[in-house]
Amino acid sequence: MKILVTGGLGFIGSHTVVELLEKNYEVVIIDNLSNSDEKVLEGIKQITAKEVQFEKIDLKDRMAVADFFTKHSDIQGVIHFAASKAVGESAENPLLYYENNLSSLVYLLKELLLLGKANFIFSSSCTVYGEADQVPITEEAEIKPALSPYGNTKQIGEEIIKDSCKAHPNLNAISLRYFNPIGAHPSALIGELPLGVPQNLVPFITQTAVGLRSELSVFGDDYPTEDGTCIRDYIYVVDLAKAHVKALERLMNQKASTNYEVFNLGTGKGSSVLDVIRSFERISEQKLPYRIASRREGDVVKAFADTKKANEELQWSSETSLDEALLTALQWEKKIKK
Ligand code: WQD
Repeated sequence: MKILVTGGLGFIGSHTVVELLEKNYEVVIIDNLSNSDEKVLEGIKQITAKEVQFEKIDLKDRMAVADFFTKHSDIQGVIHFAASKAVGESAENPLLYYENNLSSLVYLLKELLLLGKANFIFSSSCTVYGEADQVPITEEAEIKPALSPYGNTKQIGEEIIKDSCKAHPNLNAISLRYFNPIGAHPSALIGELPLGVPQNLVPFITQTAVGLRSELSVFGDDYPTEDGTCIRDYIYVVDLAKAHVKALERLMNQKASTNYEVFNLGTGKGSSVLDVIRSFERISEQKLPYRIASRREGDVVKAFADTKKANEELQWSSETSLDEALLTALQWEKKIKK
């Protein structure tokens, strides 16, 4: 079974490629290396001792996408990670995000439909919910107006896929709405490669712990939560990767109830920023220098998943604790710092 993984050299993409290879799928990666590095391929091969094909293609290049599918007409499924994902950058440069995230999706789907039957997994995000009316958040929660162009590209992307599945019964798709992916493969051979100053909490914590940053700024401790800091659902990236294989197999084994489904992927547990700091101090056995700073524009107060649907339908649940996930993040940081 040949599977295309777009953005397969990225953070979640590379961990998913490892899980696919370990289940003996044949994998082809498309990546334009705009936010990843070809060195990741070595890490994947070292972990799995398997060969994996890689083609440097920008999915905005429609002809290149068409040529790819002419060459690989035996693709059985696609897991589509390739997209720009920095919330702040998307507000500064919305057209870059609409062009990159949406035109690439349209070109991919058009070529897939020419292949005939297609199984398509879309990398979406809990960002589509905005500030949900209640937590834990179910897949039926209202989709609120996006708080950023990035979040809007995920909402629009889901709509594009939903409409395409409605018009084309031979297109089977699942959108996976991730909560907050963290950590790294236990081998410390692949992990998150944040370029520049990390936007996300966990890479900023690990860079502070190894001395790359002097201290962590906690963006606000005056929120209406138990300790005043925002609550998120931090899911271990390897557990998240495993869910992608489960979702793909649901489509390929024709177990889906309709040809378009959505699943939340989280732990089902909310952790505050201070919870994460305490957890990190526990596993690293070191104090983490931090200060309370002002709130960050666009942050929601609480977001954690109701995981019942994924647990039951995908026969999947996250199995790794926050402590364990943070330990893998620290081990990875120490590895790349060398
Ligand atoms: C988590 C919490 C911050 C950094 C983003 C995207 C989302 C998804 C995951 C792609 C918040 C606080 C953070 C720091 C802090 N990405 N924080 N100091 O914003 O929940 O989600 O990443 O799909 O789409 O929006 O994750 O890690 O940035 O923030 O206090 O230096 O940590 O305020 O409460 P977020 P995050």
